[in-house]
Amino acid sequence: MNFDHLLLTVNDGVATLTVNRPEKLNALNDQVVDQLHRAAAQLAGDPAVKGVVLTGAGPKAFIAGADIGELAKQGVLQGRDRSLAGQRMLAAFEHMGKPVLAAVNGYALGGGCELAMACHLRIASENAKFGQPEVKLGITPGYGGTQRLPRLVGKGNALHLILTGEQIDAREALRIGLVTKVVPAAQLLDEADKLMRVILANGPVAVKLAIEAVHRGLEMTLEEGLALEADAFGLVAATDDMKEGLTAFLEKRAARFAGR
Ligand code: COA
Repeated sequence: MNFDHLLLTVNDGVATLTVNRPEKLNALNDQVVDQLHRAAAQLAGDPAVKGVVLTGAGPKAFIAGADIGELAKQGVLQGRDRSLAGQRMLAAFEHMGKPVLAAVNGYALGGGCELAMACHLRIASENAKFGQPEVKLGITPGYGGTQRLPRLVGKGNALHLILTGEQIDAREALRIGLVTKVVPAAQLLDEADKLMRVILANGPVAVKLAIEAVHRGLEMTLEEGLALEADAFGLVAATDDMKEGLTAFLEKRAARFAGR
């Protein structure tokens, strides 16, 4: 991968993708959005990559939002196109078919908070700060904030953040369910790797279908979602992974999943 604003390492199945524009607090300009989108497609298609950790370069920021310099020049149609391009990039991570974990290492504002929300899991360093400050700039969130935030933290918490534009710290993000773990900054990437490996030790087909059932189920009625769940439950019955997982339990040994 040769993207000038991204860094990528792959270690034993876990890809760490780092947005690398620290001089602008990793703000998402159009180029970074495009590179992230292409990187997501590449990671999705790489059989050596089983899961992805997404983080930001430098000690201060995960991503401090969309690039305000670019937003300042946009017209109506450009604004709409920029929003749609950002939303498509986020969807490429959300629908990667592999677990994606945001390791939030500092400011996750605007598009940064929105990208973290498109990931399947979020953990944060103690110095992380979250917010949707768009209204302070006279704009609305454009990369999914008005939709994913209420789904994650409830309508009241979401409207509080979106209408005030206030930042919250990592502890508050944990309290409202925006992240599931807070760790010291120096341990963030190790903790992210550890958490990803807990997930990757599980049945890969089951993990993939469970992500899909939760994600798609949220857009359905309870009845439709339960039918989707039953289909996934039936589908895994056709996998070697199910045979291996159940047999390993009965034989009191660790399962060795093949992912099929
Ligand atoms: N877009 C473009 N540039 C950004 C940016 C953004 N979203 N966020 C930070 N930067 C740039 C700053 O302009 C500055 O660049 P410069 O050194 O060339 O002037 C550099 O990153 C460092 O930021 P700075 O503001 O000096 O750091 P700080 O520690 O004083 O403040 C923040 C950090 C995050 C509070 C502040 O940068 C900020 O409010 N950023 C905008 C957040 C935002 O509104 N995001 C949503 C956009 S829709």
